[in-house]
Amino acid sequence: MPSTPHTSVLLIGASRGLGLAISRQYLRNGAHVVATVRGAVRTALHDVRDEFAGQLEIEHVDITIPNEVRGLRDRLANRRFELLFVNAGITNAEDETPRDVTVGDFSSLMITNALSPMRAVEELQPLVTQTGTVAVMSSGQGSIANNTRGGFELYRASKSALNQLMRSYAARSSGDPRTLLLMAPGWVKTDLGGPNAKLTIDESIPHLVKTVDDQHGHGGLQFLDYLGRTVPW
Ligand SMILES: NC(=O)c1ccc[n+]([C@@H]2O[C@H](COP(=O)([O-])OP(=O)(O)OC[C@H]3O[C@@H](n4cnc5c(N)ncnc54)[C@H](OP(=O)(O)O)[C@@H]3O)[C@@H](O)[C@H]2O)c1
Repeated sequence: MPSTPHTSVLLIGASRGLGLAISRQYLRNGAHVVATVRGAVRTALHDVRDEFAGQLEIEHVDITIPNEVRGLRDRLANRRFELLFVNAGITNAEDETPRDVTVGDFSSLMITNALSPMRAVEELQPLVTQTGTVAVMSSGQGSIANNTRGGFELYRASKSALNQLMRSYAARSSGDPRTLLLMAPGWVKTDLGGPNAKLTIDESIPHLVKTVDDQHGHGGLQFLDYLGRTVPW
C-alpha cells in the first residue's frame, strides 16, 4: 500500500540532484513514477530503475524544446497522474549582474527556469487527475520580499518570473480544483547548489516530498519551503 496520496507521479528533470532524489523518495513511498532525462546517455536515474524494477519508467524531454514536450504529452496521452512535478532548472555565476551577463546567458536562464517550466505545466496538466497536484520547483531566491542581500541576481529574477507566471496560471484557472505548488527546497548540495550549500539532499527532499503530500487535495496555489512554511512572494 503506497504511503503517499500521490500514487502516480510524472517528474520532469530527474537525471541527478534534487529530481533524482524526489524520484527515489516517491518510489520508496510506493508510487509509480514516470521520470524524465534529456538525451540518450545512461544517468543515475537508470540505476534507480534497476533498484525499483517495474515501479519506474524513464522518459525523455528537454523542456526548452516545445516539440519534445508535446511528444511527451502525446506518448502519455492515455495515462493519468496524481502529481506532475516540474523540477528542471539551471543557474549561472553567482556574481553576474545585468551589467555583465551576456544576452545569450540571460535568455537561456529565463527560457529554462521561467518560460519552459510553465509551458511544460500548460502542456502536461491535462494528464493530472482532478484531485491531483501540479508542483514546480522554484527557489527561496525567487522571493522578492526576502531579497535583502542580492547575489544570484539573474537566477533570482528567473525564479521570480516563474512565480509570477504560475500566479497568472492559477488566476486563469481559478475554477480548477487541483492543488498548485511552487516549492523552495532550501540551499542544497547538488551540482547547482554547490558544495557550500547548507543542506544535504537527505536533509531537504524527504521533508519536501512530505510537504507536497500534505497539500494533496487542498486546492489553490501556495509558495512553500521544504518544511511546509509559506515563503513570502
Ligand atoms: N540545489 C539548490 O540549492 C536549489 C535551491 C533552490 C532551487 N533549486 C531548484 O531545484 C531544481 C533542481 O536543482 P538541482 O540542485 O537538483 O540542480 P542539478 O543538480 O543541476 O540538476 C538539474 C536537473 O535539471 C535538469 N535540466 C536542466 N535543464 C533542463 C532542460 N532544459 N530540460 C530538461 N531537464 C533539464 C538536469 O538534467 P541534465 O542532467 O540533462 O542536465 C538535471 O536533472 C532547479 O529548478 C533548481 O533551480 C535548487
